[in-house]
Amino acid sequence: MKHLLSPLDFTVQETEELLDLAHDIRISPDNYSHHCDGKKIATLFYEPSTRTRLSFEAAMMNMGGTCLGFSEAASSSATKGETVADTIRVVSSYADICAIRHPKEGAPRVAADHSTIPIVNAGDGGHQHPTQTLADIMTIRELRGSLNNFTIGICGDLKFGRTVHSLIHALIRYENVRFVLISPRELRVPEYVREDLLVDNGVDFREVEKLEDVIDMLDILYMTRVQKERFFSEDEYIRMKDYYILNKDKLEYAKPDMYVLHPLPRNNEIASDVDNDPRAKYFEQVNNAVYVRQSVILTLLRSAGTL
Ligand code: NCD
Repeated sequence: MKHLLSPLDFTVQETEELLDLAHDIRISPDNYSHHCDGKKIATLFYEPSTRTRLSFEAAMMNMGGTCLGFSEAASSSATKGETVADTIRVVSSYADICAIRHPKEGAPRVAADHSTIPIVNAGDGGHQHPTQTLADIMTIRELRGSLNNFTIGICGDLKFGRTVHSLIHALIRYENVRFVLISPRELRVPEYVREDLLVDNGVDFREVEKLEDVIDMLDILYMTRVQKERFFSEDEYIRMKDYYILNKDKLEYAKPDMYVLHPLPRNNEIASDVDNDPRAKYFEQVNNAVYVRQSVILTLLRSAGTL
């Protein structure tokens, strides 16, 4: 039985198959409308979410299944001191698959260790968010036709942004992907990402502070929000929060086929005047995220012998 805790839980080949399946679901959704009849997904969200939780639930419902769960720790037995390990033992007997989001890094790993059903990490602290990454790379693949040979700028909070960490994990496995990491000094990628992933694997990357200096060389610009909830000081957050604002004027300097992605939710980092530019693809990512989660649910349920 497989879990999805990090993008590396699927090989490049398995990822390819997962994205192919997501693409097929995208073009023929009706063919999949009964694949999960009678199946249940539990969504255990100890941290706020709009897209991730609803898209997991929509994904299951699109295939004939049903959903149960909670959307905040306050409405679960976590308030009574129940551990994730105990909760997942219980949930394993109610549902066929579980998506869990938790403020503590590693909580989905603990859940997987105590579960008899597949676990999907729907975001653990500032660590990883593999299904967002699958939506991101599906979008890049649909737009560019391949995941090889491009330059991606990743801009914003690279320290706490879990979508950034998962995306880098996933993309370094493809050919000739160049990274431009754009952040203030204080929000650069963590040491383990820089040293263990980028340096040790001989990846072509550079770290810069100004978006204006590099925007013209990018094929993909992945904007991110400053992760307010992970800051220790409010003052520090306020100093950082509007460091980058992509607007129509700045976009003038970008290539005509440079696509703008963002995992959402956004604050001020993408002005609304960018939304109508044909290069703005963040709402397309939202769309793809449902297909990708359908594909993840099918793949994991098959691996568990449930389908
Ligand atoms: C992201 C997350 O939760 O990490 N949101 C999402 O799932 N699309 C990004 C964020 O919160 O900034």
